[in-house]
Amino acid sequence: MPLLSDPIRIGAIAAPNRMIMAPLTRGRATRDHIPTPMMADYYAQRASAGLIISEAAGISQQGLGWPYAPGIWSREQVAAWRPITQAVKAAGGRMVCQLWHMGRTVHPSFLGGASPVSASVTTAPGHTHTYDGNQPYAQARALGAEEIPALVADYVQAARHALEAGFEGVQVHAANGYLIDQFLRASSNLRDDGYGGSVENRVRLLREVVEAVAGAIGPERVGVRLSPNEENKGVGDPEPVPLFGRAAEVLSEIGVAFLEIREPPPDGTRGRPDHPPVHPHMSAAFKGVVMLNSDFDGARAQAALDRGEAQAISFGRGFLANPDLPDRLRRSLPLAPDKPETWYTQGPEGYLDYPAYVEA
Ligand SMILES: Cc1cc2nc3c(=O)[nH]c(=O)nc-3n(C[C@H](O)[C@H](O)[C@H](O)COP(=O)(O)O)c2cc1C
Repeated sequence: MPLLSDPIRIGAIAAPNRMIMAPLTRGRATRDHIPTPMMADYYAQRASAGLIISEAAGISQQGLGWPYAPGIWSREQVAAWRPITQAVKAAGGRMVCQLWHMGRTVHPSFLGGASPVSASVTTAPGHTHTYDGNQPYAQARALGAEEIPALVADYVQAARHALEAGFEGVQVHAANGYLIDQFLRASSNLRDDGYGGSVENRVRLLREVVEAVAGAIGPERVGVRLSPNEENKGVGDPEPVPLFGRAAEVLSEIGVAFLEIREPPPDGTRGRPDHPPVHPHMSAAFKGVVMLNSDFDGARAQAALDRGEAQAISFGRGFLANPDLPDRLRRSLPLAPDKPETWYTQGPEGYLDYPAYVEA
């Protein structure tokens, strides 16, 4: 069985190890969602990852409702991403761009007062970050079927922009309760047209987006993230096995390079501990590289590879606080904890100042 430190081919990408940096929103772009120079330093510090999956990048203003998160829809954003991907390359790394549409979780204050869009007229439970503090989520309007081609076109444009900006490829964010997840799950998809009802119909938006993106930039440069047992932001499904098993099969038919599956932690503190893990059903249906996520340390990550459950493991908070995480895992060095209070603050503090082990 492979070691975490063994190389792996992920579609068009030659990764020198199997320790993947999971996507992490950090809120260090401008108020207008333009990436900043600080982000080049942050990602370059983490270039020893087998592959960096960028923080989620909005595919359109309609899809982006996170303060100071970057977008990838405008020329200005593309130009500002370029020095970031170049810095990562210069440091020996490689990076794909996570493509994000937040659907009903975009607050109207990001949309000039307009309603966010979703599969159906629903409201996410709870509150969201805005430039004016936390606000309750607003009711979404249902996307018309006639609006979907334009939505798909936004994903395609964002994917093309990502390659222009120097990324090796993209990851379509279909997890964590955002737009595509809102279409996948029975709790948020109440449609009775071709995009709702049966599993096949609820998977349709995912299929159309990924097919179009793969058609534009090549399936070997495309990955997808799914979170079958997470019930983030009010999405849920009584039968995740047939739903996510079919989603994995569809992605495999399209030939996407990798599938990152976020399962909740084994201690039952989040997600659906009453649902057994769904990832084995997805891996069985998917022929590309499977990456598993959530709450791994080095030993559990290696054990998952040993059991053949995944070909690579992605680490979120581990990479956030340990820029040299692969070296620390290889040498079983202690890991620094992350500081949640600086996850989304704007400055370099809690961002550029996590030292590598030798400096500690
Ligand atoms: C600060 C922070 C930001 C995150 N941003 C994203 C994101 O942009 N896209 C995404 O898919 N997941 C995001 N996540 C989830 C992580 O990718 C990952 O699934 C989570 O941290 C669990 O993995 P871990 O136990 O290795 O940290 C975020 C998590 C954290 C802590």
